Amino acid sequence: MRVNPLLLASACFLLAWGGCSSNPFPQGERLYAYHCSNCHMPDGSGLEGLIPPLAQSDFLGLHPEQVPCIIRYGQKGPIVVNGKTYDQEMAAISDLNHFEITNIINYIHFAWGNGLEYRKVQEVQSALDNCSPMPSSEK
Ligand code: HEC
Repeated sequence: MRVNPLLLASACFLLAWGGCSSNPFPQGERLYAYHCSNCHMPDGSGLEGLIPPLAQSDFLGLHPEQVPCIIRYGQKGPIVVNGKTYDQEMAAISDLNHFEITNIINYIHFAWGNGLEYRKVQEVQSALDNCSPMPSSEK
């Protein structure tokens, strides 16, 4: 029997992928652990009444253009997540470039069963270009 080398290569790739990590966004995961998890918690659950969750947050899907802005410029004023109002301040995390922000967002979209869509770096960049410096509150 002749083995198609292309098929063999893709099988190896799939094996390596599965064996290596089940998370396709390792940089996003590392950056999340460093910059976000002390507030939003390693499992994305947030802190009851004070810090909104990122796991199963409806905000992520409803306001995809605002998420990159919140990461870069912070968030202040009332914000509604899963029907609950939060009103604390999230400080800006200004030392992340748009690649890193994209990786964090894609990790969050993938993690904790969120199952949200992949965001391209160009989409995140254009959202960042259209941020008002401090989004006052969501609509
Ligand atoms: C110092 C604590 C703190 C850190 C660190 C922090 N956040 Fe937040 N985050 C908050 C708070 C508090 C809010 C809600 C702000 C408000 O009430 O207006 C928030 C809101 C959000 C929201 C919108 C609401 C939601 O839950 O969907 C997103 C998205 C978000 N943060 C992502 C991140 C990401 C990504 C990082 C890391 C790059 C991060 N945050 C780091 C405290 C923090």
